[in-house]
Amino acid sequence: MKNILVTCAFPYANGPIHIGHILEHIQADIWVRYQRLLGNNVYFICADDSHGTSIIIKANELNLSPKIMINNILDEHKLQFKKFNILHDFYYTTHNKINYFYCLLLLNNLNIKNLLYKKNVYQFYDLNKNIFLPDRFLKGQCPNCKNCNQYGDLCENCNQIYNSCDLINPISLLSNTTPILKKTDHLFIKINKYKKILFNWILVSSFQNEIKNQLLFWLDNNLIDWNISRDYPYFGFKIPNKYILNKWFYVWFDAILGYISVFKKYCYLNNYFNFYDFWKIDSDYEIYHFIGKDVLYFHGLLWPIMLDVLNFRKPTNIIIHGHIKINGFKMSKSKNNFISIDKWLNYFDSDSLRYYFASKLSYKINDINLCINDFIKSINCNFVSNFINIPSRIYPFINKYYNNNLSNELLDCNFYNFFISKYDLINSYFLNFNYYKVILEINKLISLINKYINDYKPWIICKNIKKKYELHKFCTTVINVFAIVSIYLSPIIPDIFNKIQKFLNIKLYWRKIKIPILNHKINKYKKLYKRIDKNFINKFYNGDIYV
Ligand code: MF3
Ligand code: ZN
Repeated sequence: MKNILVTCAFPYANGPIHIGHILEHIQADIWVRYQRLLGNNVYFICADDSHGTSIIIKANELNLSPKIMINNILDEHKLQFKKFNILHDFYYTTHNKINYFYCLLLLNNLNIKNLLYKKNVYQFYDLNKNIFLPDRFLKGQCPNCKNCNQYGDLCENCNQIYNSCDLINPISLLSNTTPILKKTDHLFIKINKYKKILFNWILVSSFQNEIKNQLLFWLDNNLIDWNISRDYPYFGFKIPNKYILNKWFYVWFDAILGYISVFKKYCYLNNYFNFYDFWKIDSDYEIYHFIGKDVLYFHGLLWPIMLDVLNFRKPTNIIIHGHIKINGFKMSKSKNNFISIDKWLNYFDSDSLRYYFASKLSYKINDINLCINDFIKSINCNFVSNFINIPSRIYPFINKYYNNNLSNELLDCNFYNFFISKYDLINSYFLNFNYYKVILEINKLISLINKYINDYKPWIICKNIKKKYELHKFCTTVINVFAIVSIYLSPIIPDIFNKIQKFLNIKLYWRKIKIPILNHKINKYKKLYKRIDKNFINKFYNGDIYV
């Protein structure tokens, strides 16, 4: 039995959970469920990223104190994830004492190892709002490729990392004015000393090749010392004055330490059972971070340095997904192309999106497009017509002739065994994060079931009184292969799987998949899932679905 810690990137506590967050949590949740079905011990941890300038800006907008706002949002986020059946064991906030403790510990270690220095640097300052501008509140031209409309930290066009004060023609996104350069003291971490350690870590890692290449590129070209302090006004943890006067920890410094502190809090609430077993340097327990490609630099280069300085182990793997697109376009509130989870659930449900995303998720970092027409077609034609409707094709016979009982043997063991024989393949697809391959394989199995029914023609066979026993065994075979496919799909569609178990009147186990269901009474058939109403599409295109 393995011990596994799984995390998703912590969502900022400044707005609702949206389709982009849920993509990542679905990707992780499917894997967590799969690992648990194997019998492994999995802890799935997440939290709100509750600090930084974006938090004060939002709190000001809402006329709330940051503390009250982050608490309100924490409750909302927990509920929103629950509605998608995301099975976090613990969902907390980075605004907690243990997290502050680790910030101080790391700072102390950095200091002892002579990896810290103070420097007086220029930063962009918004004179209208009286605030130093965070990287993501600045836009301008990339100093490297000169592409316009780039943020202050990295260029989405040429992938170059730079200092925000090198941005050309900067504009403050807070006031739409040109910021001035103002001098201020900051604390920096000497990153270059870690080049070799990082290089070795990346080479032996199990990252996708494109990720390895990107990290190695940054390592060679872009390793700039990390500024970990921020000026007031800020919401977060204060840096002790002995290091630097009146500065706060940069939100990324404490957020990412949350992977440690939030898990520690969880362990504490559960009697400290195995915190260090996971994080000690030679641990053979596994740690997986699921993240989007936009935060790779933090996770792939800065995080391993922080862990090294703390004398903690590094993650087993980092699973990276691409950006979410909606109908081919970048998700953006200002462009009216943004879907929050609550809005989604006004029209659709969680399993349908889980199924659709699974059909697109792989171990690659290509962008994932949620195309609404394609989504509806995939659910109505593929999922409902071909899969969900299978029991309705044979239930009338089971009900009319056999009083809902299954027979004591199968009609066609070879057919049944073919479905069982896919077990290892499906396992390897889940294990390697290639959920789209699971769906492709399942689709093949589903069409085999429908063909089996079409070829046998139970509606004709039932008229032949001599074939009653054979028909019974046929129906039992169909129910059994349907159950196998349902088990294969269970990490993806938990709600529907529960309904299937209720209908079949049995608990279906991943590890008992090879035992057929015989001599068993099933329940009355009720529709397992409804097709998506076409009216919703109209409402969607009328703009109703966008927040
Ligand atoms: N809040 C960040 C974002 O949405 C992600 C933080 S990941 C963490 O981009 F682990 F550092 F918290
Ligand atoms: Zn560029």
